[in-house]
Amino acid sequence: MSTYKSNNFINISKISSDENRKDMAETLFKTATAGFKNGSPWEVRDFYHTLEAENVVVFTANIQTDSKEKTIGLLIASVALSEVDIYMIVVDEDYKQTQVAYSLFEHLIEYGRKHEVESLYLEVRTSNVPAIGLYKKLGFEKVGLRKAYYSSPIEDAIVMQLKI
Ligand SMILES: CC(C)(COP(=O)(O)OP(=O)(O)OC[C@H]1O[C@@H](n2cnc3c(N)ncnc32)[C@H](O)[C@@H]1OP(=O)(O)O)[C@@H](O)C(=O)NCCC(=O)NCCS
Repeated sequence: MSTYKSNNFINISKISSDENRKDMAETLFKTATAGFKNGSPWEVRDFYHTLEAENVVVFTANIQTDSKEKTIGLLIASVALSEVDIYMIVVDEDYKQTQVAYSLFEHLIEYGRKHEVESLYLEVRTSNVPAIGLYKKLGFEKVGLRKAYYSSPIEDAIVMQLKI
């Protein structure tokens, strides 16, 4: 699956376990820094340790710029039996609203269906309008509310589920 932005071809890849973890952790950190308004919520070492975990799947969205590849979006999730927990979805500010996040999720859902996953779960800040819009478009439904789940600033989390 792929999508276009202007003349750029966007390629979605699944990170494999033989990838250079140190380089990949730095790439993911850079992408998260370019996508979250207040900077990446995870340090490079958090990405590194997440990449080490056996049950974690990571998809990246990449474009070719000049002679090198640039990562413009990422989706990190953990798979446990029939459930997937979304850890992080973020798209570089310059490439938002061009269906990058939607395409990343399409790939995760396809992966989940092949691995007998039944449901995807995630938490989202009640004020995160773009993310809630994305999840609703994908078919996620609200299944709970966690009071004061987030800090800095304190905010409730909506728990959402997508049955696949
Ligand atoms: C949430 C986020 C990942 C969406 O990524 P994106 O690539 O811009 O989203 P897409 O282009 O794939 O949009 C798909 C759908 O999401 C919704 N959406 C995306 N941006 C939106 C916005 N600013 N306002 C309202 N809805 C929005 C729309 O329904 C959109 O469908 P449409 O294009 O048919 O209207 C992106 O805004 C982001 O990186 N935010 C910061 C990180 C974050 O908050 N992540 C979630 C918590 S970990």
